[in-house]
Amino acid sequence: MESDGIALGSRGGLRDRLALYGAQCSVFFRGFLEHPRMVGSIIPSSRFTVRSMLAPVDWGSCRLFVEYGPGIGTFCRPVLEKLRGDGMLIVIDTNPIYIEYLQKTIRDKRFRAVLGSAADVEQIVRDHGFDHADYVLSGLPFSTLPAGVAPAIAAATHRVLRPGGAFLVYQFTAACREYMRPHFARIDAGFEWLNILPCKLFWGWKTADEGEPVAA
Ligand SMILES: C[S@@+](CC[C@H](N)C(=O)[O-])C[C@H]1O[C@@H](n2cnc3c(N)ncnc32)[C@H](O)[C@@H]1O
Repeated sequence: MESDGIALGSRGGLRDRLALYGAQCSVFFRGFLEHPRMVGSIIPSSRFTVRSMLAPVDWGSCRLFVEYGPGIGTFCRPVLEKLRGDGMLIVIDTNPIYIEYLQKTIRDKRFRAVLGSAADVEQIVRDHGFDHADYVLSGLPFSTLPAGVAPAIAAATHRVLRPGGAFLVYQFTAACREYMRPHFARIDAGFEWLNILPCKLFWGWKTADEGEPVAA
């Protein structure tokens, strides 16, 4: 797989790696300046957050992995390194700066970058020929999204997941858990100190016998 002109998995020199990281941070920061409340952070997630967040994923059973809010692709590259050869990674972001950057820099036949809202995940998954996703990862700033968007995304995510699949969420606050709770009977929680800022991690599991929740 190629990315940013550097073959992933190769160990480029320190200067190359720093130059790449600097270029990625500058694209990320440009996206933040244009839409601060939608981006919610001035710096991409750390590799420690990526590793902790993805640790429970069963890659052997994952055909479709969906990511909301990929930014400059901090998670995309590690996900593609682990994803099956016949798998697909669909990323969805509302910011055209990020989608154009990802389309230009990640050249992998299993990768699709979609300009749109996570609230439309079901339609986007259908458009790519799938009924369900195995895992959905979110870096969305739930607490600063426009009113009504966060609960709509949590509900759509539960519907789009296959039984046994999971909603993986990282955030600076625990706000997302309130949106997950009506849909996911089991939510595991964790914390990653080695991130700017340290962040909370949640894994909402759609259990095999779970139907749609009954309205209160
Ligand atoms: C904190 S950034 C996450 C960046 C990246 N995932 C990382 O870990 O470094 C949040 C991202 O969510 C995107 N976003 C905000 N609202 C969205 C929505 N409704 N649907 C999809 N993406 C959205 C923003 O454009 C931004 O790329």
